[in-house]
Amino acid sequence: MKIAIGCDHGGINLKPILLKYLEEKGYEYEDFGCYEKTSVDYNDYALKVANSVAKKECDLGILICGTGIGMSIMANKVKGIRCGHCHDVFSAKMTRLHNDANVLAFGERVIGPGLMLEIVEAFLTTKFSNDERHVRRIAKITALEEENFK
Ligand code: RB5
Repeated sequence: MKIAIGCDHGGINLKPILLKYLEEKGYEYEDFGCYEKTSVDYNDYALKVANSVAKKECDLGILICGTGIGMSIMANKVKGIRCGHCHDVFSAKMTRLHNDANVLAFGERVIGPGLMLEIVEAFLTTKFSNDERHVRRIAKITALEEENFK
């Protein structure tokens, strides 16, 4: 499984901890930046990660900014992206099970490294339930995208 990773300056301290975890667990990843503490726009990194997942170059994406909010809003503007903004393990698990989320976003100013890794583990190891009601609800999201993203 290949994971697309992106952060802005607000997520720059958690990212190396995340990358080390992915390496230890044997996940392949692509780090789309940013790479320095200089202030940048979260939009640009969310877009790189979302595009790589939407084009199926990566299977899942993980985004880190100060709060995770800007990253998740931006990623969810890309057709085919369902980005879950999660700061607890239960939500991270449920956004895979019920929403088939393909991107995860969280904030370095909200959670610490220990909780982050538990959230990431839940996100990466939980599969979509494929339950009929969830398939139906996701199909409604996809239908809206088809209508609005022309
Ligand atoms: C950057 O200061 C901060 O606004 C950004 O990391 C993020 O929290 C935006 O939603």
